[in-house]
Amino acid sequence: MLTEKSITEIIRQRFSCRSYLKTPISAEKRQKLQDFIAKRPGGPFGGQPRFHLVAADRQDSHALKDLGTYGFIQSATGYLIGTLDSGEKNLEDFGYQMEAIILFATSLDLGTCWLGGSFTRSSFARKIDAADDALIPAVTSVGEIANLEEARNGLLRRQIHADRRLPWERLFFNQNFGVPLAQKEAEDYAVPLVMLRIGPSASNKQPWRVVKDGNTWHFFLQRSQGYREGILTRFLNVADLQRLDMGIAMCHFELTARELGLPGKWVDKEPALIKPDDLTEYTVSWVGMLESLA
Ligand SMILES: Cc1cc2nc3c(=O)[nH]c(=O)nc-3n(C[C@H](O)[C@H](O)[C@H](O)COP(=O)(O)O)c2cc1C
Repeated sequence: MLTEKSITEIIRQRFSCRSYLKTPISAEKRQKLQDFIAKRPGGPFGGQPRFHLVAADRQDSHALKDLGTYGFIQSATGYLIGTLDSGEKNLEDFGYQMEAIILFATSLDLGTCWLGGSFTRSSFARKIDAADDALIPAVTSVGEIANLEEARNGLLRRQIHADRRLPWERLFFNQNFGVPLAQKEAEDYAVPLVMLRIGPSASNKQPWRVVKDGNTWHFFLQRSQGYREGILTRFLNVADLQRLDMGIAMCHFELTARELGLPGKWVDKEPALIKPDDLTEYTVSWVGMLESLA
């Protein structure tokens, strides 16, 4: 597990924080974050993206002033900057691992926000002395939360499920895409699915779809129409953010399943299922194992 705190509590606590205190992240928290980055769990597809924490300290509170976020982020005192590894499912691995670091930061009561579109790639690449061809699909702002009341209200909203998320029936299916999964049919996996559903996604599009087949859970990406082809997306050379969303979903699902003592593993083997449309593509399956076989 990530920390001594419960993963479900941490996932519920997280929200996209876009306004921070000017106070730098304490040296102790920075050290803990660095340590976590160094020994974080590997990505499910074996990729090795690299992550850096750049943070202002008391002596140098202007260290980050040349990092551009088009005004979306107020006063962040730190950023997580990641570069992509090669590999077929490299974006999913990147999403999974960045999210694990974000959840660890959340456990330290830090605020975070994924930035896939609204950041100037070149300024962030310079900050970590990245090679010219290094790919930075996204960065994450991090810092002390400016408005704790807003954070608490957000937590309340999320607890009563009033936050903007697609209804459960549109995300989770039983055996095939035409049949919505009833919550009670999810059995032990109801909580991992709830934790997946409250995860962050680019523009809150929530492209994850999961089909249950016995104790196996097939994960699909249902792309949002026109999302990748948008002019802004092309102009800004934005990465395939919805594949990052899939990695994030896998992270929430797996960490919760493990905390609940539900053994299983990721298998990349597409089932023979009829997909609802051309926008839907297979990502991976979680194969739950019986305790005695694990
Ligand atoms: C891959 C990814 C990219 C994102 N990019 C941005 C961004 O560029 N700017 C921004 O303000 N928020 C960005 N977000 C945050 C989402 O808008 C946010 O997660 C979503 O609206 C749900 O809200 P919540 O995170 O508070 O639960 C991004 C999230 C993800 C997962």
